Amino acid sequence: MNMNVVRIKGDGIGPEIVTEASKVLEAVCKKYGHTINFTDILMGGCSIDAYGVPLTDEAIETAKAADAVLMGSIGGNTSTSPWYKLEPSKRPEAGLLKIRKALGLFANLRPALLYKELYKACPLKEETAEKGFDMLIMRELTGGLYFGARETKEVDGQMVATDTLTYSESEIRRITIKAFEVAMKRRKSVISVDKANVLDSSRLWRKIVEEVAKDYPEVKYEHMLVDNCAMQLVKNPAQFDVVLTENMFGDILSDEASMITGSIGMLPSASLNDTKFGLYEPSGGSAPDIAGKGIANPIATILSASMMLRYTFDLDKEADAIDNAVKKVLEEGYRTIDIMPTDGDTSAVTQVGTAKMGDLIAERV
Ligand code: IPM
Ligand code: MG
Repeated sequence: MNMNVVRIKGDGIGPEIVTEASKVLEAVCKKYGHTINFTDILMGGCSIDAYGVPLTDEAIETAKAADAVLMGSIGGNTSTSPWYKLEPSKRPEAGLLKIRKALGLFANLRPALLYKELYKACPLKEETAEKGFDMLIMRELTGGLYFGARETKEVDGQMVATDTLTYSESEIRRITIKAFEVAMKRRKSVISVDKANVLDSSRLWRKIVEEVAKDYPEVKYEHMLVDNCAMQLVKNPAQFDVVLTENMFGDILSDEASMITGSIGMLPSASLNDTKFGLYEPSGGSAPDIAGKGIANPIATILSASMMLRYTFDLDKEADAIDNAVKKVLEEGYRTIDIMPTDGDTSAVTQVGTAKMGDLIAERV
């Protein structure tokens, strides 16, 4: 197969982790007889520096013409970087929101899995960590508070800011269908997370979930309030299979889910529309504090590349090869600094940097 992939290395640790994922993809191509062409575009702070905007229209067109986009991370330190002195629509994150909307990427899949080798990096109680967990957060990505009308204006002598949380039936239905479809391929369970005790948008969400659920009698589903879900994630994460939720709740819960896997550096993601096209990126941010030090964990990006092979190119065997190579490297005791055991017992592990971790995984695909 010939794959045309647009790369967005982005800011902070982005270039380092995308380099490692590319290395692993090239190793897969070599082994399985595929070719991959990378085209790089700028997005985020690096695009602001080059063009004055976080994402140019030409860059969007280049992305649209590709089969898939592989992304690192964008943004900088929000307190110190000059990018955050610009008006909000010109800041790095605006580029990410623009590409998600322009490509119609409404479904964001964030699998959070605790590898048994990483029990010791998991911050939860030992008896909880030992049970393990394997969930997939299905986050709605192009609606809700992120894309509703917003304004800041003076009212009666003081500033007032408004953000709007809007969802239409069709937006809720299409993400719910994705969640139930994915559940059919997993453990056939969906927990839909909302705040229906307060929000109208959540009450509509529940109604649509119930309608869609009728078409999937084999899938067990329940509704859970978001505050309870935040608590259940640390109390009993094993209960979750597919977690379906709206944009903002999904943003927050996926950071929480990633942290209980040991590190945010372990969580991949896929953002999909109704075609085979997808944007694949680690769920973590640009980590400007460790950028350029060669210590960032590239595994989330490497696993995102695996999701790309699986969802866009239907190359399941090749995707499995990457996932197994990651497991193997962890079994062999290699760790980046963020996934070192938290109990101080480092006798069974070897700490490695970003490039070495990439090499080790590439060698094992
Ligand atoms: C994420 C990030 C983004 C989001 C930011 C960078 C806009 O936190 O992908 O989770 O909030 O969606
Ligand atoms: Mg986030």
